Amino acid sequence: MALVKRNVQITDKIAGQSIQAPQLGMPAVQWRNGYGVPSDGQDTNSKNKPARLLTRNAKEIIIYFSRSGSTELLAAKIAKITGADVLEIVVDKPYPGNYRQTLSRANFERQTESYPELKMAVPNLDQYECVYLGFPIWAMTLAHPMTAFLFDYGNQLKQKQIIPFMSEGGYGQGNSVQQISQILRQRGVKADIFPRPLVIDGNKVDRADYQIERWLKSLN
Ligand SMILES: Cc1cc2nc3c(=O)[nH]c(=O)nc-3n(C[C@H](O)[C@H](O)[C@H](O)COP(=O)(O)O)c2cc1C
Repeated sequence: MALVKRNVQITDKIAGQSIQAPQLGMPAVQWRNGYGVPSDGQDTNSKNKPARLLTRNAKEIIIYFSRSGSTELLAAKIAKITGADVLEIVVDKPYPGNYRQTLSRANFERQTESYPELKMAVPNLDQYECVYLGFPIWAMTLAHPMTAFLFDYGNQLKQKQIIPFMSEGGYGQGNSVQQISQILRQRGVKADIFPRPLVIDGNKVDRADYQIERWLKSLN
């Protein structure tokens, strides 16, 4: 599919690095609810190192996965306003750049409940009171790398405030928040999950500043 789109200049950075998000600016007729959006196959940008900004005194951290950059841009905007630390979720075998191949791998993983191996060092999260969890919606629920993160590291979220945000293809949040809650509950982890996540269409994340600010204010 030829990607016809308006030229969108992304000035936001994440952990000092530039962001690529190919669905930004695509009009609805080409965007087709995110169907067909490629990535460079490196979750999120082959030119970047995995985003990681960890400071000694921060009380908030944004932990996110993004395949094609839209959720990453949301994470960058939230980080800019809140000053939160940043940690990108990285899978051992990145999803393919080709959308259909990604979809078929994701379908297989879902049917077999075989979620991806992660390849990242997760710091001790004790210092954080609040954890923003960012992910794209896949098949009306969490993208699998976030599921894998919660399976592997959910016990580190004990007693914290969890604030979900996501980009999606226009079909909304699905059962993603319930899914976070269920995975943590199954692990015996009590956390305070904010029930009104930020939900933004993947092709409009660059124009969501007002919504993001309003949503952040609603957390207080
Ligand atoms: C495997 C896969 C499944 C998806 N399933 C859905 C879905 O069920 N509902 C939806 O609204 N969007 C769906 N999308 C679209 C993405 O949620 C959307 O493009 C999102 O903005 C991508 O975020 P990212 O650029 O951070 O990876 C899907 C995308 C992929 C790759």
